[in-house]
Amino acid sequence: MLDNLILLIFCSFLSHIMAGTMTVISDTSVYTIINSQTIYATNPANYSYAWKSIDGASWIWYASDNTKIEAALFIKCFSVPGTPTSSNINIGADDNFTVFLNGRLVGMKSLTSFFLTEIDMLSKTVYGQNCLHIIVENTVDYAGLIFKATISYQ
Ligand SMILES: *[C@@H]1O[C@H](CO)[C@@H](O)[C@H](O)[C@H]1NC(C)=O
Ligand SMILES: *[C@@H]1O[C@H](CO)[C@@H](O)[C@H](O)[C@H]1NC(C)=O
Repeated sequence: MLDNLILLIFCSFLSHIMAGTMTVISDTSVYTIINSQTIYATNPANYSYAWKSIDGASWIWYASDNTKIEAALFIKCFSVPGTPTSSNINIGADDNFTVFLNGRLVGMKSLTSFFLTEIDMLSKTVYGQNCLHIIVENTVDYAGLIFKATISYQ
């Protein structure tokens, strides 16, 4: 009885220690197939309504010339050190994006997707290794991607 109680206290203590929140942001550690590393992207057109910022994250692209009409794939893998309790991604792209987590569709948005979108991805987030795959297509002007995933776990 006492043993069980001690075990219970120990376990709740342990789960308390392990609980936390982590973020995964767009930066130069995001992988692209083409050249294996991204760079920080700029939008010289500087539309006042476009390319919103996300605290801690940066607009990225795979090449310094981000004016080509093309698609690019961005990959970011990360490890969640506990059972996910909430998982969201805040994402914007120029011009459109399709995002997968662990091979499962999280969401997509067509033109003017640089207006940030928050998407729930808890049902696709797992304890341990996770990989985001984001396809961005540029159809006019400047190309870029920004995101921040926030994951809580216990
Ligand atoms: C671009 O936008 C920023 C922020 O609003 C502003 O400070 C800057 O002067 C603008 N640059 C140009 C070239 O319009
Ligand atoms: C993105 O743009 C391309 C080219 O116009 C189009 O084929 C694709 O369906 C678009 N994707 C989304 C998610 O809107």
